[in-house]
Amino acid sequence: MLSTPGSLLSGPSGIQELMDDLGEALTTHPDMRMLGGGNPAAIPEVQALWRERMQELLQDGGRLDRALLNYDPPAGNPAYREAFATFLQRECGWDVTHENICVLPSSQNAFFLLFNLLAGDSPVGKRRILFPLVPEYIGYANQGVSAGIHTACKPIIEERGPHEFKYRIDFDRLKITPDIAAVCVSCPTNPTGNVLTADEFARLRELTQQHGIPFIVDNAYGHPFPDVLYTDFSPKWEEGMIFSISMSKVGLPGVRNSMIVASKEIVRALANMNAIVSLATGNVGQALLMPLLVDDTLPRISREVIRPFYRKRSDAAVAVLHETLGEKVPWALHAREGAFFLWLWFKELPIPAKELYQRLKKRKVLVIPGHYFSFGLEERWEHPHQCLRLTFSQPEHIVREGLEILAEEVIACSK
Ligand SMILES: Cc1ncc(COP(=O)(O)O)c(C=O)c1O
Repeated sequence: MLSTPGSLLSGPSGIQELMDDLGEALTTHPDMRMLGGGNPAAIPEVQALWRERMQELLQDGGRLDRALLNYDPPAGNPAYREAFATFLQRECGWDVTHENICVLPSSQNAFFLLFNLLAGDSPVGKRRILFPLVPEYIGYANQGVSAGIHTACKPIIEERGPHEFKYRIDFDRLKITPDIAAVCVSCPTNPTGNVLTADEFARLRELTQQHGIPFIVDNAYGHPFPDVLYTDFSPKWEEGMIFSISMSKVGLPGVRNSMIVASKEIVRALANMNAIVSLATGNVGQALLMPLLVDDTLPRISREVIRPFYRKRSDAAVAVLHETLGEKVPWALHAREGAFFLWLWFKELPIPAKELYQRLKKRKVLVIPGHYFSFGLEERWEHPHQCLRLTFSQPEHIVREGLEILAEEVIACSK
């Protein structure tokens, strides 16, 4: 018989299904049109940078040997933490030192540690993480070692024309009850591409301050890298906030490294948890990034190469949607404010998005059905069952073929 946390963590989940599909599409089923997972695109200039850095490491034998041979302390490499704090002071104007930085084995891992540090069973009862704006990142959904650690708020849907809408926080619904341990947003949001307005951000900050709870911002797609952001959102870290910055979306998902920026107490707690779960964090990503923290290479390549690359891919995908769907069925996209995805709403979809996903998979197109991204709600919400998340990071001809098949299926099942 399994333990309660064992059965919670070892059962099927949206993120496991997504990663299985993604892994198989990129390895054993290369004929699959991968519009599903969150893999970053192969961008030649960015790949050249990482190859160049790898060669420098190989040539600087001492550094490579140290990186491969040594366990770092569980909060990360001390020199890297210093360099990253200096980088954040310079590039973002954040008032941080190395004591505010914890380097962890990926942001997926960081959120697992964070959520279970703050939420779950406690001496004063069950504590929960509040997601003020779902749909939210699928990878948060099954991370509790006890059940029911997530709670969420449905958004206001602002329709902005025949083919565009935007989610807004419904502050009338949002209640910070005593069981709320922290408020968490990914911004830019995976899956929707939403970016909080300055007013929404300030109100969340004020609410969390008033209640003395952390405000967690998952910055996987934001400033300073990869900066796939089309608004001027560049929030400041302050005491009481927890920022997560990943190395993955700047082209290094293979190194599995991320940084948490938080109060010294949270950093110490996460480092202690990291020692128990992983002993230490992998060194290679830190060794690759380290020399790039002393200049503006990362923000510059993000601004000049990565952001325009994704914008161009996104524009091309949207053009295919207009061409193939046109006015044949009602459809709308969430406002494209950042991240790597299109969030597509078929307002009159006659089958649930999950069934559309199955039909598309049979035709060798992978997408993610929207319901996985709306966890933590108490009542059923029909809207995400009419939505799909699509990524446009694969080569343009694959995205085009995938979208053409998607349009055919949706039009056929709507007749
Ligand atoms: C919003 C968000 N947070 C966290 C992650 C996990 O990233 P990592 O590769 O650092 O574990 C992802 C990956 O897609 C993401 O989109």
